[in-house]
Amino acid sequence: MNKNDKSCVVLCSGRGSNIPSILDAIDSKKIRVKIECLISNNPTSRSLKLAEENKIRAEILPAGKERDLKLITLIKEINPDFIVLAGYIKKIPAELTQLYKNKILNIHPSLLPKYGGKGMYGLNVHKAVIESGDKISGATVHLVNEVYDDGEIIIQETVAIEENDTPESLSSKVFELEKKLFPKAIEIFINTILK
Ligand code: GRF
Repeated sequence: MNKNDKSCVVLCSGRGSNIPSILDAIDSKKIRVKIECLISNNPTSRSLKLAEENKIRAEILPAGKERDLKLITLIKEINPDFIVLAGYIKKIPAELTQLYKNKILNIHPSLLPKYGGKGMYGLNVHKAVIESGDKISGATVHLVNEVYDDGEIIIQETVAIEENDTPESLSSKVFELEKKLFPKAIEIFINTILK
């Protein structure tokens, strides 16, 4: 790790599908970042396998009330410069949003503030977008505060919705966008907000 690199912890619940594009950006030095640890609340998350393959420390959170306590303890121990939510579906405890004010990033598969909030994740988002009749959707990377999907927007880009799009096809289009958007957002965040 270069002394100018910023350290981060990545939180995942599911596939960890944004991790490869972040790792590519790190490898090609587009972003000067070291992932210190990947934390998942889900013991069967595919992200844990990605961590193992890439020799990244991985931690699993317990279920129930202990989850947030363990998360807070781990973050305090690792003390990263920032935190990345890459498909983490649990709410971040207020103690962490305060300790890491303007230092937690989340990616969301819609044009926030539209289609955000509790329950709006995965295909639920794309179903709601298609049902609304909107002609564009997109992805957003934003800072995390106490309210779901509410913090300051760092970057947002759009995709066109075609007549024959389904929630599944829209999800694929948005994901293609996310692969470019997340590394770009991390770069902007490091150079402007984290400085
Ligand atoms: C991302 O695509 C993002 O839109 C949302 O969760 C997705 C990642 O989840 N926050 P997964 O890693 O594919 O399970």
